[in-house]
Amino acid sequence: MEHAGKTIKIALLGCGTVGTQVARLLDEQSELLAARAGARLELIGIAVNNLAAQRDPAIDRSLLTDDPSSLISRADVVIELIGGIEPTRTFVCEALNAGASVVTGNKALLATHGPELYELAAQNDVDLYYEAAVAGAVPVVYGLRESLAGDQVNTVMGIMNGTTNFILDSMKTQGMDFDSALKLAQDLGFAEADPSADVDGYDAGAKIAILASLAFHTRVSLGDVHVEGIRSVSADDIASADAAGYVIKLIARAHRHSAESGEAGIEISVSPTLVAKNHPLASVHGSFNAVLIEAQSADQLMFYGRGAGGAPTASAVLSDVVAAAAKRVIGGHAPREVLYGNLPVLSAAESSSRYYMKLEVTDAVGVLAALTQRFAAAGISISSVIQNRSHTGLSQVKGSTPGEMESVQNAHITIITHLARQAAIDAVIEELKNSTDVIDVVSILKVEEN
Ligand code: HSE
Repeated sequence: MEHAGKTIKIALLGCGTVGTQVARLLDEQSELLAARAGARLELIGIAVNNLAAQRDPAIDRSLLTDDPSSLISRADVVIELIGGIEPTRTFVCEALNAGASVVTGNKALLATHGPELYELAAQNDVDLYYEAAVAGAVPVVYGLRESLAGDQVNTVMGIMNGTTNFILDSMKTQGMDFDSALKLAQDLGFAEADPSADVDGYDAGAKIAILASLAFHTRVSLGDVHVEGIRSVSADDIASADAAGYVIKLIARAHRHSAESGEAGIEISVSPTLVAKNHPLASVHGSFNAVLIEAQSADQLMFYGRGAGGAPTASAVLSDVVAAAAKRVIGGHAPREVLYGNLPVLSAAESSSRYYMKLEVTDAVGVLAALTQRFAAAGISISSVIQNRSHTGLSQVKGSTPGEMESVQNAHITIITHLARQAAIDAVIEELKNSTDVIDVVSILKVEEN
């Protein structure tokens, strides 16, 4: 196949699950990749920490080196698959300063040091590609950066972490509690031994920060994202959501508020959310990812696929490698960071959502009326109320010392609101917690309707 005898030198930093697949595919698909890039893609070295470690047979051990700086200095394109912030950031800066284009899958690095890296790439007249940083094989970075360049994006939301989707899905379909579902995810190799970046929502937070920056032409970092993980989601929450017509998903969401609907700005969060069963994101199961984009002219677009794993993520890395190599052959650049939007990021209190809350209350005359009156006084419109049959529970004996309980008839009341500001919801919840009729605020979750 044609590639006019040109060669692009590729350096690979890191040889874990994804790096191994990238090296394998660069070799196995070399003819196809060369024809598409217009140049032979020569893997000139793989920088690793441990030269003696066991490797997949697909890895040519003669390419291994423990001197990343020397490797970087000889490359046209550097693929960074080490992860973490340091020393990775230093290597990426070295590569950009040495005139190499960089392809990275490092969401944490981009969501914390992205601006510095974009500026360095522009200063050095090279490109920074990061399709693999968000949702693995799913081409959503390209979708936002290039395919939707002629449109106005209003909302980006989705399931951007496969581990938590697998855990929530297992809790729903197999009736597991969180700890057992997490253990299953670890046993099957989805979840890391230290699963906190996934289950506490920071992995999804970094991804939505990257997508929001592209969608709204505004710098958004991980620190701007209001992040809530899934550790507090109980089997009871999942069963209650199911009965009310919802599934619980960890939703990463960024939305542009126009000035007409209050203060102009971006609201951005990661939170366990009740998703209506007829919503497109409700049918994303197991470790799959999906990103739903709402744009002014295109309307709804859904990107769905494998968000993790060696070969799927390598597919995204190689698409960037081909693009970076082709630009070096024929000239031109990847789209640069565009920042005209300059929108403020709204605080969590200023954001709006529908809310679901489950309350345990005393089952007595006037309790429901008093409860709904509090919502009305706060300007929150109620969409639905379900009261379960009463059950025998415990309540603080009125006028007694704390801890003295009596047996009473209690009921669970589930309320779903229309769109409400979080500040108003927080104020009502505070009042409810102090009300003698409310025994417990069992759970509060955001709601997404179709
Ligand atoms: N750990 C992530 C997930 C994949 O479970 O989706 C890499 O971001």
